[in-house]
Amino acid sequence: MVRSYNIKTFPIYTLSLQVMALVKLTINNQPHTIDVDPEMPLLWAIRDVVGLTGTKFGCGIAQCGACTVHLDGAPIRSCSYPASAAAGHKITTIEGLSKNADHPIQKAWIEHQVPQCGYCQSGQIMSAVALLKQNPKPSDEDIDTAMQGNICRCGTYERIRKAIHSASAEMASAPKMPKSTPKIGKL
Ligand code: FES
Ligand code: FES
Repeated sequence: MVRSYNIKTFPIYTLSLQVMALVKLTINNQPHTIDVDPEMPLLWAIRDVVGLTGTKFGCGIAQCGACTVHLDGAPIRSCSYPASAAAGHKITTIEGLSKNADHPIQKAWIEHQVPQCGYCQSGQIMSAVALLKQNPKPSDEDIDTAMQGNICRCGTYERIRKAIHSASAEMASAPKMPKSTPKIGKL
């Protein structure tokens, strides 16, 4: 499906109306072909064109982390990443993290009642998931370093730390899938 967008919904990003192109994105394993300025920030494409509004706009200048999504599993600031540069890569947003909000990080966030206003939290969660992928048993210092680009105006940092430790413990205790299926002989 090809979608165009409404220029009035972009208060900061200034469009050059002449340059439009079809950009193919794969978001949460779903293909999307959108008709946009290729320089449009990925955040705008995700929220205003594709309609996934879980990812938030905070500063627009890669300073707050509210817009964090994964590109091939690594966290990026989607407000400062051109949509065209994300073509051909696997984009994951908060909506694609799990089917029933049951990723260990999401469960730990609920257990520790992390959010206050909630605005920064999808970005926090995406950064936390990326951290545990890189470092399954982070120390407080590792957490502070990895999460320092995600700003929370409500000051939920202490609960974020606890939730990351909880998720880390749950992931460590989860049964591992066998690397290969044992061969079954002929009956
Ligand atoms: S909105 Fe992207 S970092 Fe703030
Ligand atoms: S929970 Fe309010 S900004 Fe983080």
